[in-house]
Amino acid sequence: MNQIDYTVSGNLALITMKNPPVNGLGYELRRSICDGMQKAIADPTIKAIVLTGGGRAFSGGADIREFNTPKAIAEPTLLSVIRLIESSPKPVIAAVHSVAMGGGLELAMGCHYRVASPGAQIALPEVKLGVLPGAGGTQRLPRLVGLEMGLNMIVSGQTVLSEKLAATKLFDQIVEGDLITSAKAFARRVVDEGKGLPRVRDIRIEHPDAQALLQFARNTVGAVARNFPAPMKCVEAVAAAVSKPFDEAMRFERALFLDLVQTPESKALRHAFFGERAASKIPDVPEGTPLREIRSAAVIGAGTMGGGIAMNFANAGIPVMVLEAKPEALEKGISTIRANYENTAKKGRMSADELATRMGLISQTLNYADIAAADIVIEAVFEDMAVKEQVFHKLDQVMKPGAILATNTSTLDVDRIAAFTNRPQDVIGTHFFSPANVMKLLEVVRGEKTGKDVLATTMQLAKRLRKTGVVSGVCDGFIGNRMIEQYIRQAGFMLEEGALPQQVDRAIEKFGFAMGPFRMSDLAGNDVGWYIRKRRYQEKPDMKYPRIADRICELGRFGQKTGAGFYRYEAGRRDALPDPVVEQLIVDHRASLGLKPRKLSDDEIVHRLVFSLVNEGARILEEGIALRASDIDMVYLTGYGFPVHRGGPMLYADLYGLYNVSVRMAEFARNPHGDSEFWTPAPLLAKLIEAGKGFNG
Ligand code: 3HC
Ligand code: NAI
Repeated sequence: MNQIDYTVSGNLALITMKNPPVNGLGYELRRSICDGMQKAIADPTIKAIVLTGGGRAFSGGADIREFNTPKAIAEPTLLSVIRLIESSPKPVIAAVHSVAMGGGLELAMGCHYRVASPGAQIALPEVKLGVLPGAGGTQRLPRLVGLEMGLNMIVSGQTVLSEKLAATKLFDQIVEGDLITSAKAFARRVVDEGKGLPRVRDIRIEHPDAQALLQFARNTVGAVARNFPAPMKCVEAVAAAVSKPFDEAMRFERALFLDLVQTPESKALRHAFFGERAASKIPDVPEGTPLREIRSAAVIGAGTMGGGIAMNFANAGIPVMVLEAKPEALEKGISTIRANYENTAKKGRMSADELATRMGLISQTLNYADIAAADIVIEAVFEDMAVKEQVFHKLDQVMKPGAILATNTSTLDVDRIAAFTNRPQDVIGTHFFSPANVMKLLEVVRGEKTGKDVLATTMQLAKRLRKTGVVSGVCDGFIGNRMIEQYIRQAGFMLEEGALPQQVDRAIEKFGFAMGPFRMSDLAGNDVGWYIRKRRYQEKPDMKYPRIADRICELGRFGQKTGAGFYRYEAGRRDALPDPVVEQLIVDHRASLGLKPRKLSDDEIVHRLVFSLVNEGARILEEGIALRASDIDMVYLTGYGFPVHRGGPMLYADLYGLYNVSVRMAEFARNPHGDSEFWTPAPLLAKLIEAGKGFNG
């Protein structure tokens, strides 16, 4: 299929890439560009060629979906396309606008000249996908923007606006106004003045002390890129640009690219890239669903969550009013918000003006009448159904028709909350994570009667608040907390069997988690889980629960906030220090159960924890609580500190092999302690194994 427009004006050919939305350089587009090039080269009336992208990008780079498929290496590869352009006997001028990233920028650098609009996003972001620029980017960019800047852009993957690069050799001209008109005028001058066919490969990299700079880069990258191989390989590829002849360095770059594209780290990062985008798609809520306008917001409750939620709105420039029950609570909440902003300002990350603007967007009240006109109200009062009932009755009475009524509940039934109103279609769950102004995840809980427009508007709002919105159905704990409960249970069983909190935490942190279950529990407050467990003991008396956490809570050790939990904490410090009191408590508890402690390997710890997430995740998927496996992964990557380089629990299971997962589960089920029933593979897991599939296809 042809994916270019080919037009002629005078002695110029204009090739316009046409592969929406971002002109990804897939097989068809690569072939089409080559066809266009051949045609222009063969036509004696054509003296120069302008290459540009149609629609909203010059090009977003190689088609990532083709990676690891035969199409990715089918000729013409991107390297061949660039070789054809670079060796063209007629000058090729890239007309760059909007976005030139990855392979797109590599394509432009293969041209003889480049003309750009200001504001174009220029980047080699391959490192963010766990690879490196594999079509000459590591060789050509340092030649055009200098070694230091090239190295920085390649290792960080960061975007630089075209006008910021005006002083480099990357662009021959930055032009205001109509790009194609200017690019054609530029091309005519090239022809008329016989400017020739400069090739980037012929530019020498000049740097006073390249080796010292490269060594510095190795040291810095080595220290920060712990779990990712790509950044260091980027440095090595750039080093080759300095030390090797061009073609040899190109082969070196290519070999590194082909290695990296196979790594689990790259698979994980690509999974997260597409997972983030997939999460905003809801099968029965089509893209054109009309949205409600959100120009103002209200938050009920100025506690831990309410304050952070209000900050989110202010940060996005949306005026927000905070309502409290009592003046003292309101004052405390607002001063906490101010202190938070002042802290950011003190660190130099916010100006005094910005601080004033944000605080200016936050108003306060004790009176429901004042919030009646808000487009959305988010309730964040105590986690108590009676209090929620009272609040939603009131909201139903006062809020204007069409306002979205959202609840931040973490455990209560959103459908019951909706039923407190006469407008259940306007009610939705917005489950923020603590600290709400920092954490990226927003679980958007779709009630049985939630309107499609309400759901679509809330997902759109998530984007405006710079959150990753993931839709969850209604169930106890939604996606994230329902899974974490099983993970915490396993962690507790392991204490009873022979491990200590610090061993469990260390093992899973080595696996890559930001924080192990016991440090996390101490941070969140052990009383939160205790409260939920007490409810569970009533609801599910037959379910086996490890009890050490209860013993810890009975001592008033609620975690960091009380100075002690599974660990002890010194005043004013957050370091979790192993505590002999806890060790003794564990030893006594084991003795009371008649359990002889055994040594648990780190591998057992890690896989019992991770596969407990996976098995519950499979149930959640099968019940339709999550729409797709990658949604579950996004919840864990953005809300629970699951290691990014592993791509989330469901992808980890896919890469581990679901059959192998089931074998490990069977092994865990044989453990006389623990919960053998829990390890019965979820029906979906068994079905997928049977079909030879993974959670992600
Ligand atoms: N390949 C395949 N699909 C891509 C793509 C790519 N390179 N870039 C974007 N897309 C898809 C997205 O998945 C999305 O698809 P969907 O509509 O089905 O969800 C659609 O294009 C639009 O993307 P966004 O929603 O992200 O649109 P934005 O306008 O917000 O952003 C962008 C555009 C800045 C180009 C952003 O999509 C982006 O950062 N893309 C990735 C760029 C990148 O990493 N390029 C390097 C690729 S690797 C490479 O080139 C290897 C080479 O060196 C050999
Ligand atoms: P909190 O106790 O810090 O704050 C609750 C606030 O609500 C208090 O300031 C209180 O004065 C106010 N309040 C109580 N009744 C009210 C009423 N009738 N009208 C107006 N204000 C009232 O509680 P937190 O932690 O902020 O939790 C709030 C909600 O968010 C709960 O539903 C909780 O389950 C949920 N949540 C909490 C998370 C956390 O990590 N703390 C994470 C995600 C959700």
